[in-house]
Amino acid sequence: MQRKRLLTGDRPTGKLHLGHYVGTLENRLRLQEEYECFFVIADYHILTTRLEDLDEIEGNIRDVVLDYLSVGIDPNKSAIYLQSLVPEVSVLHLLFSMLISISRLERVPTLKEMIRGLKIESPSYGLLGYPVLQTADILMVRANAVPVGKDQFPHVEVAREIARRFNTLFGPVFPEPESIGGEVPLLVGLDGRTKMSKSLGNVIYLSEPPESVARKVMGMYTDPRRVRADIPGTVEGNPVFIYHDLFNKDKKEVEALKQRYRTGKVGDVEVKQRLAAALNEFIDPIRQRRAYFERQPGLVDQIIRKGSEKAQREARATLHAVLKAMKLDSFRR
Ligand code: TRP
Repeated sequence: MQRKRLLTGDRPTGKLHLGHYVGTLENRLRLQEEYECFFVIADYHILTTRLEDLDEIEGNIRDVVLDYLSVGIDPNKSAIYLQSLVPEVSVLHLLFSMLISISRLERVPTLKEMIRGLKIESPSYGLLGYPVLQTADILMVRANAVPVGKDQFPHVEVAREIARRFNTLFGPVFPEPESIGGEVPLLVGLDGRTKMSKSLGNVIYLSEPPESVARKVMGMYTDPRRVRADIPGTVEGNPVFIYHDLFNKDKKEVEALKQRYRTGKVGDVEVKQRLAAALNEFIDPIRQRRAYFERQPGLVDQIIRKGSEKAQREARATLHAVLKAMKLDSFRR
């Protein structure tokens, strides 16, 4: 029996961080055995918002691949590919763009946020199509599952609608992909803001050096009412304890710290020192694997080439089925 398919990916905007880990990377690792996996590095998607800093794109693509490898994504099991090396995706994007209305896309909340957040004065035609391009990625391999952070759910919903619309109009070609959420819907940032995000500057990278992890943790936002160590503090919703719960393996230590915090018997400094140690313990093996892969010249290029060849085979087969279903294949035979 054919294994179910999984596709997800990232825009190459730089190094991945803890938010990516709990939002989606953890799920990818868990599902890597069960599903046939495709991981897209979405370089075309970068063009929807940043045409300015494209000199960085090559380095960013390399960083994403290295981060994938260092958390344990295995290129012998899963295809890691570059979106722009699979040109069929742009044909699918064009065809799918006919199956969804402008007003529906204007209601996608992430697009509104991007426009506001990046202060885009007049969004391009391409930016409106962001979820349609993402749909093309997903449906191109006829994926069943899409593990993503919660912010991406509205895009997977667009993919489901387009799949349904296509199947109704032209016959059953696509499965309706399902999104799979992470352990925590959104990881709080170091500054206590709702989301860990590079653009907010409140992240710890998966490749962050140990001293830098410690420095960032010492500057974290905690319970602001606690101006002295003997004032009882709040654990719930406190970023320092949210991270302790997620990344500190020593659950007993975490419970003891919470207990002491609630009763005003521990200082923030100690709680943070423990967290820095726990985070470094968590990140250590990731950093070590990264260093190992970084030393192998040509490795990243080779992985991208091999993954993209696999994705291309799928893309050609899907496009063939699509054009046939749409009766656009008469002169191709
Ligand atoms: N939009 C996703 C993000 O910014 C990246 C992405 C592109 C993606 N294509 C995808 C994610 C397909 C899941 C499936 O994180």
